[in-house]
Amino acid sequence: MANKGIFITLEGGEGVGKTTQAQRIESYFTKMNKKVILLREPGGTKTGEKVREIIRETKEPIAPITELLLFSAARKEHIEKIITPHLHKNYIVICDRFIDSTVAYQHYGRKIPIRIVKEITQLATDGLQPDISILLEMKFQDAIKRKKEELDYLEKTAMQFHEDVLKGYNTIIKKEPKRWIKVDANLPKDLITTIIINKLEEMIKKIQ
Ligand code: TMP
Repeated sequence: MANKGIFITLEGGEGVGKTTQAQRIESYFTKMNKKVILLREPGGTKTGEKVREIIRETKEPIAPITELLLFSAARKEHIEKIITPHLHKNYIVICDRFIDSTVAYQHYGRKIPIRIVKEITQLATDGLQPDISILLEMKFQDAIKRKKEELDYLEKTAMQFHEDVLKGYNTIIKKEPKRWIKVDANLPKDLITTIIINKLEEMIKKIQ
């Protein structure tokens, strides 16, 4: 059965305000009397939330391939149990992170070859792609500055990783610009929401 709903994903680095904007987009569509559901990855199912716990709480470093498999396992459950059934029921499905996080973090960040990332992703998604994706763009340096001034050694080491992730997102966007809304995450929150909603309305008209 073909999907009838609209699948919107939010992407970006750490601490860029994705979750706030996802909630605001959900409220906007709810006020417009649309059927809408807000999800996050990893998460959404019991298995997905357990994967989130494993990744968040582990004290030992996880091998990049293990990370890839964990995110993908959670995604498979999420798609089968929640995302696809809602798309079939004509919902606007908003998901805080999806496959572009895997390409940006596990390929561009962790350097797993793209061939492997794509194969595992295909296995998990069976080809499901977002209709529209939103990148909230902010340098990791700026995101972390919001928290404190001085970076410790580990944060400095991590800097290159986060720069690679952001470069990765921009490379993905260059390959498929029509799917993306890119917004400067340094702008005031309300302005970001307005920019996103205006662009979403425009893009949704083209899809429907
Ligand atoms: P967040 O919920 O705060 O965005 O955190 C999720 C973390 O998991 C974030 O560091 C990005 C990472 N992640 C990946 O590395 N690959 C993925 O496929 C997904 C969904 C998340």
